[in-house]
Amino acid sequence: SQVIALLSRMKATSLILLLTQIHCAYAFWHKGEPEEKLDLKGIIERWEYPVEVHQVTTSDGYILDLFRIPRGRNERKSSEPCTRHAILFNHGLALSGAQWALNMPNQSAAFVFADAGFDVFLLNQRGTTYGRKHTKMGSGFFNNEFWQFTLDEMANSDVPAVIDKVLALNGNKQLYYVGHNQGNLVGFMMLADNPQYNRKVKKLFALAPVGAVHYAKGAVRAAFLIHNIFRPITALYTSVLGAHEIFFNPFPWLYRTIVEFVCKKPLIGLICKDVVDLTLGHVGPQLNVSRTPVYFSHVPSGSSTWTFLHYAQNAQAKKAMHFDYGNPLKNFQKHGRVSIWVTPHPYNYSQIDTEIYLFWSRNDWLATPNDIVHPLIPSLGKGVIKGSFEFPEYNHLHYAVATTTKERVYQPIIDIIVKDGPMPMCAGES
Ligand SMILES: *[C@@H]1O[C@H](CO)[C@@H](O)[C@H](O)[C@H]1NC(C)=O
Ligand SMILES: *[C@@H]1O[C@H](CO)[C@@H](O)[C@H](O)[C@H]1NC(C)=O
Ligand SMILES: *[C@@H]1O[C@H](CO)[C@@H](O)[C@H](O)[C@H]1NC(C)=O
Repeated sequence: SQVIALLSRMKATSLILLLTQIHCAYAFWHKGEPEEKLDLKGIIERWEYPVEVHQVTTSDGYILDLFRIPRGRNERKSSEPCTRHAILFNHGLALSGAQWALNMPNQSAAFVFADAGFDVFLLNQRGTTYGRKHTKMGSGFFNNEFWQFTLDEMANSDVPAVIDKVLALNGNKQLYYVGHNQGNLVGFMMLADNPQYNRKVKKLFALAPVGAVHYAKGAVRAAFLIHNIFRPITALYTSVLGAHEIFFNPFPWLYRTIVEFVCKKPLIGLICKDVVDLTLGHVGPQLNVSRTPVYFSHVPSGSSTWTFLHYAQNAQAKKAMHFDYGNPLKNFQKHGRVSIWVTPHPYNYSQIDTEIYLFWSRNDWLATPNDIVHPLIPSLGKGVIKGSFEFPEYNHLHYAVATTTKERVYQPIIDIIVKDGPMPMCAGES
């Protein structure tokens, strides 16, 4: 039996070697889509849109790339001063600003809104591919201090700094905000903790709004249940080992090749579909399967272990809480107040009076209807929710990559904004 074991081990090794060779040959001959090898700036340029990359430094020293598409593809730069509506997009967990530009130009938010006459801004949270710089620290895996951040810092440092930069560049006093998944969670948190920003955000469009993810299904639910059992261990991790990077993509080239090699094949391709189905829910026909290598070369995009713990704490509390460091002194230092329950205080959503529009799905495994109906809607003030759109056929990821987002989601948003006043027409444009 030892011989058989040895033989089978040898077989496995040679099989891996063979597969590696096939992968390499395949990657060498296969050109793939250009976006697989481009960064976000390259993608925007590939489709011949104007692009600016601005750097925003947060109050705690993180440097975030803010991408701007100041006008549509067919519009010339105006000689007259002209102020378009500013629209800011904030991405989901483990994603980046690139999520808004991964499909064809007439399907991707970044391009659809630029062509509709908006001044488009794509935010990148700290820790993502475009948020890995700091005035003082490096961002390597062992740069523990860099990764010591949670949703609190995204909501209270990143988003306000970016909003101020957008308004300074654009010239208007208010902007429109579109969030997907974590992008609108931190949007809500930001408005709750910084009420003066309700004056700067005219409307918030929440795509697949995550409340507390208490009711999430699939692999995410399993992860939270496991976290609750091992909570003392994670508390020890937080205080002794600190924080690390997760959801990153160390070898995008290899990853992409495997995805390309596996996901596009008739039978084994089902594995990819199953992985996505099991973790995030069913993927319907509105996904352009031939573009999955493009998605996987930009996803995942990096976050911190503490962000994940923060989600788990919210899921347990059934609402958006400030992060619990597991230590009353640290909690007081960070949050500046003591709570009778020792655990930090919840975000007070009744501070929000920006107009909110919800885009949600019964099928969504992450932003489940239960999460929206129970913790989210009642905690917002009366009359704050101005509209609610249900998309029966969408799941969580569809809001980022479905082929139908333009007609289903983006055009309704444009129609709502136009009711606030006509789109400014800028001189010198065709
Ligand atoms: C996008 O453009 C292609 C060709 O340029 C066209 O076939 C397709 O119908 C368009 N899709 C949308 C959503 O407008
Ligand atoms: C799917 O993506 C390919 C390029 O990867 C593109 O040529 C095609 O038009 C897309 N199909 C749809 C339905 O969007
Ligand atoms: C939450 O905000 C509302 C509105 O400003 C205020 O009336 C209420 O006291 C706050 N609740 C807490 C617990 O701070």
